[in-house]
Amino acid sequence: MMSARHFLSLMDCTPEELLSVIRRGIELKDLRNRGVLFEPLKNRVLGMIFEKSSTRTRLSFEAGMIQLGGQAIFLSPRDTQLGRGEPIGDCAIVMSSMLDAVMIRTYAHSTLTEFAANSRVPVINGLSDDLHPCQLLADMQTYLEHRGSIQGKTVAWIGDGNNMCNSYIEAAIQFDFQLRVACPEGFEPNPQFLAQAGDRVQVVRDPKEAVAGAHLVSTDVWTSMGQEEETARRLKLFAPYQVTRELLDLAADDVLFMHCLPAHRGEEISMDLLDDKRAVAWDQAENRLHAQKALLEFLVAPAYRPA
Ligand code: CP
Ligand code: NVA
Repeated sequence: MMSARHFLSLMDCTPEELLSVIRRGIELKDLRNRGVLFEPLKNRVLGMIFEKSSTRTRLSFEAGMIQLGGQAIFLSPRDTQLGRGEPIGDCAIVMSSMLDAVMIRTYAHSTLTEFAANSRVPVINGLSDDLHPCQLLADMQTYLEHRGSIQGKTVAWIGDGNNMCNSYIEAAIQFDFQLRVACPEGFEPNPQFLAQAGDRVQVVRDPKEAVAGAHLVSTDVWTSMGQEEETARRLKLFAPYQVTRELLDLAADDVLFMHCLPAHRGEEISMDLLDDKRAVAWDQAENRLHAQKALLEFLVAPAYRPA
């Protein structure tokens, strides 16, 4: 009964599966742009539990389910028994008996693993304190569309060794690229993820060193959701890690700049960076929709396919 396929991390798929989901995302984008109706998830229902705020993740999953012919139900812990202490495993048993998939945005990653262990339907990580794998599907689709395969390329992650950075580390393994992380002392990514990646990932202090010759530069907010009380300290420590046009000039001529958004202009990026020709943050945001539709099709639709 607990045999459903989950997507809690990029490591839950093989490299081939990840690539095929991304390629499918490009096809689904084309179908939508051509106005072709494609509804393989008719009558299917996705539950979406959001313990943290979201614009892109909520919209892309909700719009994506509707476009695929299904429905999505937004669940906030404030109005469900989850917020009143009902055990997560109990919630998983009940919810998964009524839904076809569940997306969860949460704090502790263990909430996801515990839910998944008790769920009979696929569970998708919509961001945890540790990982943000759906964002990487969109980022990898965006790179493929603009520049082709990322295999063998060099990627620079600038700033906090946070959930996004950890997912970039997993992407380096799964998509076979070199990753250089530049972060202040004490804000390195979790050693468990670094160990998994071996020499595919290098941690440095100097953002210039990380960016030199890179084909993709990516960053994220300095203060993630749940860390708000550290904001002042982080603003000071991360100041040398702002990504500017001048920093990008040190990268490869065909570098792309990505930001998962929301962006704080004047903090992790200069005021003008998203207007730079090298920035593809809006494409990235749109691709959340297409890549996750491909993910939903991959996880939810197979049961409908003839054997
Ligand atoms: N990038 C991203 O996940 O955005 P939201 O927090 O708006 O969902
Ligand atoms: N690292 C950020 C990503 C937001 C999409 C956070 O966790 O708040």
